[in-house]
Amino acid sequence: MEIFIDTADIEEIRDAAAMGVIDGVTTNPSLVAKTGRPFKDVLVDICEVVDGPISAEVVATDYDGIVTEARSLAAMHENIVVKVPLIAEGLKAVRTLTNEGIRTNVTLCFSVTQGLLAAKAGATYISPFIGRVDDISGSGMEVVEQLVTVYRNYGLGTKVLAASIRHPLHVVQASMIGADVATIPHKVIHQLLKHPLTDIGLERFLADAKKIPNG
Ligand code: G3P
Repeated sequence: MEIFIDTADIEEIRDAAAMGVIDGVTTNPSLVAKTGRPFKDVLVDICEVVDGPISAEVVATDYDGIVTEARSLAAMHENIVVKVPLIAEGLKAVRTLTNEGIRTNVTLCFSVTQGLLAAKAGATYISPFIGRVDDISGSGMEVVEQLVTVYRNYGLGTKVLAASIRHPLHVVQASMIGADVATIPHKVIHQLLKHPLTDIGLERFLADAKKIPNG
């Protein structure tokens, strides 16, 4: 499974990239707004740090607007993948963009039927939001599982990108199901890394190392 980082914070991206654990980046307007910086400046910085797919979201909701914004984002860098909302106008735009060779990440997916249509429209990635379904007492992971099965059944090439991940168990479950990608917040990447026995073991080794006589 590929690991993307779900953030627009360049320091978080640098930290994860330095560990060598990320294959790409996803952003959304809320994450970019948190940085307090202009969208395109943020994207330029990210493209310098990560050599992999970088999702940048359009804010237009009509076909012409989405296509125009998408072309301009895609022209910024070869690694930009355009994030498009899962609405009818979005799917029309995805078909056009796919025909032009522009990669897309269809976002705000909450059902397998939505995801099936996104794949038919030619989406490069589909982003089922896990945490937001869990938040309303549903099972976000069930949608990921259904998408993986349906795409596999019919050889659809769209990659399942598990999004809205809130904790390490989401990552474990997504990987067991066979999601192609998980996009993970910086905090959760560090949670994946931590184990109390590693910390205790290291502490003991370092204490014992001090007892070794100098040779
Ligand atoms: O970028 C999409 C996404 O991962 C959203 O996550 O935590 O805002 O539901 P969240």
